[in-house]
Amino acid sequence: MDIDAIAAEHARRLSGADALIPRPRLWTDGQAGTPLRARDGLALATRSVVRTGTPAALWRPLVEYRLDVRLAGTDPSATLSALLARWDEHLAEAEAVDWDSAAVVTRPSRDTVGTSELLRRGFAPTRVLAVRPADRLGAGPPAVPGVRIRHAEAADLPTLVRLRQELHSYDAQFGVVTTRPDEHDLVTTETRDLLADADSATPSLWIAELYGRPLGFVEVQLPPAAKWVSEYVTADRVGYLASLHVAEEARSTGVGSALAAHAHQLFDEAGVEAVLLHHAQANPRSTPFWYAQGYRPLWSSWYRRPAIG
Ligand SMILES: CC(C)(COP(=O)(O)OP(=O)(O)OC[C@H]1O[C@@H](n2cnc3c(N)ncnc32)[C@H](O)[C@@H]1OP(=O)(O)O)[C@@H](O)C(=O)NCCC(=O)NCCS
Repeated sequence: MDIDAIAAEHARRLSGADALIPRPRLWTDGQAGTPLRARDGLALATRSVVRTGTPAALWRPLVEYRLDVRLAGTDPSATLSALLARWDEHLAEAEAVDWDSAAVVTRPSRDTVGTSELLRRGFAPTRVLAVRPADRLGAGPPAVPGVRIRHAEAADLPTLVRLRQELHSYDAQFGVVTTRPDEHDLVTTETRDLLADADSATPSLWIAELYGRPLGFVEVQLPPAAKWVSEYVTADRVGYLASLHVAEEARSTGVGSALAAHAHQLFDEAGVEAVLLHHAQANPRSTPFWYAQGYRPLWSSWYRRPAIG
């Protein structure tokens, strides 16, 4: 099958699976990466690296090998299997056996063809980019008396660093976020940078206080800051909920729902049509929480870590 026919068939299958998935981009000649071919499919294998000692290293393995696939033909599962086999030969040359490496395949969550092929090759569904269209209703607990949401200020730096480190350690259990020896310094740098907009009309960090005690925070990106994520959804104005965390002692009491309701109000006021967020699929707290708040899976990232078992 020729390349244009594969791309057209792949796009047709995706648009039938999920109307919120944009038409896949065409790879341009000279695009970085290694093209791989199967009879009825094609893929682009890429590699991305972040350096130790940078805030980016907190949230992912240092080296990620990624495969972007286009599947067609009467048996797209077999096509994926053939592409994964080619990719494994390619990865074997990279000798990516270190824990700080991962092989990652990101697929539209509702395009489920080939799921068993991914499982067979040792991939696990690990990270989800979830979406909440603006008109969705959430069904969290009733509002809690005593919860107050306010802007984070420069003086909140120690509280935010503590809460963000708690979030980092909790999320590190689920396979993508990675524990680092210089974590405290990196989280402090990252939080200080985020607090730089604390005095603006649209601050990104908000704190939940229960009777004056700070017990949780939410970080939001309104347009245009969330532009980087808009290519993943068919909506013009997109917001990104970057993180939300509630101190362990205050969980399951409505604080997280109060923060989420506040974030959704900010997105509504900014005319956002769809809010996106990442969460770890195996997180037993965030997964049910977000789906009760009106989110649903849009893109699923399958990880194998290390990249070669
Ligand atoms: C995920 C997290 C933010 C949720 O915050 P939270 O304050 O615990 O959540 P809430 O109390 O507002 O909402 C959950 C509670 O609402 C209630 N609830 C949920 N749906 C409900 C419904 N339909 N009707 C009535 N009550 C409901 C339940 O009591 C539920 O608690 P339970 O699941 O333990 O039974 C928090 O658990 C947390 O910080 N986890 C660790 C870090 C993390 O995972 N962060 C997210 C990263 S993406």
